[in-house]
Amino acid sequence: MSNSENGIDLSKLEPVLRKYEQDPGALIPVLQEAQQIYGYLPRPVLEEIARRRRVPLNQVYGVVTFYSQFYLERRGRNIIRCCDGTACHVRGAAKIINFLENELGIQAGQTTPDYEFTLEVVYCLGSCALAPVVVVNDRILGQMNPEKMAAVLEKLRSAVAASSEQNA
Ligand code: FES
Repeated sequence: MSNSENGIDLSKLEPVLRKYEQDPGALIPVLQEAQQIYGYLPRPVLEEIARRRRVPLNQVYGVVTFYSQFYLERRGRNIIRCCDGTACHVRGAAKIINFLENELGIQAGQTTPDYEFTLEVVYCLGSCALAPVVVVNDRILGQMNPEKMAAVLEKLRSAVAASSEQNA
């Protein structure tokens, strides 16, 4: 079944639902794989998971809101996570965060309207020796500063421009 009026194709969920059909305890893996497919967990996907696994919808929401790994809102294609834990903070994390907020025109915790960038602030990534640390799409970048961040952002933006030209 598809739900294309809001751009969500539920047929992509089918293999995941089938894979865990016989495993009633597998709600978390189902949600993880669904999130890999859609990038977040939109309501129609959660409703479908609840319906097919015969679990109350509020129970599904309970799990999704309990674990920070799950997202209910659509996120950017590029996820930039700035650490503002103690080690990173004392070495200038705030300057990097301010720089990114200004450059992207969003606040930490938000996504740009074109869904290209999500900016998040986290508190210690376990790489304090590299402080200040920024993680860009799972790549850890250490000893960052606004200048280095500007160069990284420029590369990301050229990749975005190249892919939108390809899709044009
Ligand atoms: S405080 Fe930033 S990595 Fe630990």
